[in-house]
Amino acid sequence: MSKVLKEQIDNMEMLCQDVFKMTIKSEYVAANALPGQFVNVKCGGIDALLRRPISICDVDKAKNTFDIVFQIKGNGTEKLCHKCAGDVDIMAPLGNPFLIDDKYKNICVVGGGIGTFPLLYLLKSSKAENKTALLGFRTKAAVVLENQFRAAAQNVEIATDDGTYGSKAFVTDLLEQRILELSKLGQKLDLIYTCGPTPMMRKVAAIAEKNNIACQVSMEQRMGCGIGACLVCACKTKQGEDEWGFSHVCKDGPVFWSTDVCWE
Ligand SMILES: Cc1cc2nc3c(=O)[nH]c(=O)nc-3n(C[C@H](O)[C@H](O)[C@H](O)COP(=O)(O)OP(=O)(O)OC[C@H]3O[C@@H](n4cnc5c(N)ncnc54)[C@H](O)[C@@H]3O)c2cc1C
Ligand code: FES
Repeated sequence: MSKVLKEQIDNMEMLCQDVFKMTIKSEYVAANALPGQFVNVKCGGIDALLRRPISICDVDKAKNTFDIVFQIKGNGTEKLCHKCAGDVDIMAPLGNPFLIDDKYKNICVVGGGIGTFPLLYLLKSSKAENKTALLGFRTKAAVVLENQFRAAAQNVEIATDDGTYGSKAFVTDLLEQRILELSKLGQKLDLIYTCGPTPMMRKVAAIAEKNNIACQVSMEQRMGCGIGACLVCACKTKQGEDEWGFSHVCKDGPVFWSTDVCWE
């Protein structure tokens, strides 16, 4: 169950230009948050009255803390990055989490930009035997949390748009390569999880479908209330054989099976 909480900021760190990690002390969120869920944060200021959704990036149950990592996009996140101490007003944890199941032994996360952040807690929580992380960033200076991903997965590959770090490729190219490498060894991914820009996730979903691999996507729609009351976060989903309707990303997602999303 989600709660409105006023929690203490434990630490604030700049990870790279315009990207910040906020560690928040919260016994409730640390005990209850699942990978893929998000918090709705009051950023403060008259021009950012609505809360802003930010994914839970990591949880430290021993310390009763959790991390959010966010990029400055506009007024809300700009205000948030100046909060270095004191309390922060959050509604959490929200949304449906990623599916973690022991039957999926060979998993792969595919993240792009800010979409990489929720995938860290997922990898750390999964007990899959073989974990791969394929991460895409614009450029070397935008690569964050690399060491944490390397500690959480056996295989980590990074792609940058400009080739300044890792492969000069789209992260979806890395996914196709990984699937091919595994098939040469007679192996197959059991489940792909993806979060990032919609065109990237659309391509990941298509690759998964072509190769008959289950795939979960975390949609990043603009949000209003965060609790299913305002319809701002509508996302077109399949509802039956030839039917479609609108789902709320905040309440029905943000995680969906890729085959349930209408990608046009
Ligand atoms: C479920 C969910 C989880 C998210 N997790 C993270 C996260 O872990 N880290 C992070 O940095 N961001 C995350 N986001 C995106 C984040 O919520 C937005 O960047 C933020 O709300 C922007 O607020 P703002 O006031 O700074 O910018 P605004 O002034 O509201 O907008 C500035 C620009 O950002 C665009 N924008 C706003 N909201 C979104 C959105 N949801 N998706 C794409 N573009 C948007 C606007 O169209 C505009 O161009 C998440 C979004 C959702 C829905
Ligand atoms: S944000 Fe209001 S219904 Fe989803």
